[in-house]
Amino acid sequence: MPKKIIAGNWKMNMTFDEGQKLTSEIVNMYQDESISGVEVVLNVPFPHLMPVKKLIGKAQGIEVGAQNCSDQASGAYTGEVSAQMIASFGAKYVIIGHSERRSLFQEDNDLLAKKVKIALDSGLTPIFCCGESLEIREAGTHIPNVKFQLTQGLFDLSAENFAKVVIAYEPIWAIGTGKTASSDQAQEMHSALRKHIAAQYGKEIAAEVSILYGGSMKPDNAQDLLSKKDVDGGLIGGASLKSRDFIDIIKSY
Ligand code: PGA
Repeated sequence: MPKKIIAGNWKMNMTFDEGQKLTSEIVNMYQDESISGVEVVLNVPFPHLMPVKKLIGKAQGIEVGAQNCSDQASGAYTGEVSAQMIASFGAKYVIIGHSERRSLFQEDNDLLAKKVKIALDSGLTPIFCCGESLEIREAGTHIPNVKFQLTQGLFDLSAENFAKVVIAYEPIWAIGTGKTASSDQAQEMHSALRKHIAAQYGKEIAAEVSILYGGSMKPDNAQDLLSKKDVDGGLIGGASLKSRDFIDIIKSY
């Protein structure tokens, strides 16, 4: 069984105080409402890694992650943050290849493949994002398009390393737009990706990999999306900035 994961993606939001308040609320509700059986991840901006990790403290089942890392190990790369640094602050996850990184920062599959490798070498779990544009969806080529992103970004990995990766399918037209993929559209893609993984790495590994859905997941549509056979969790942007909404999504799982 794949691990069930609900991951928040704060993007470039939250000052120090706001981040502290949000984290405290999430940790308190998580404990008070006795949530279990789902790994919760807070993918925060770099400066929040350490303070958020501290606030989570010993709360079981909540982890911290970053939203990006350098493709280089260390050295003269002003402004960059390495995977090793992220891991050294107690983070467990790092998002790689979010569509905003791909489109706004010109990150291509070759670069992302390097980032995935360096994240794994540093002991982090990459949450590898993939997803198609509206144009591609309307042309009906979304499945081969997203399969290709997986091939390019991940299929150089050994089976042992691939088994450590989490995948997030995020149709670009659904991110931050309030327009969600229907649960059937999500299931269709997730199942196609699992088959694609099985063809490369075998059925056992494919059956274990967590494939998350992302794109306007909210408390009122989460249960439907998360009820699908091949949907193993969610990557949540906007709704992860409101503690009540984020917790309600987790509880609907
Ligand atoms: P959204 O963002 O939930 O605000 O659509 C999802 C994401 O970008 O990971």
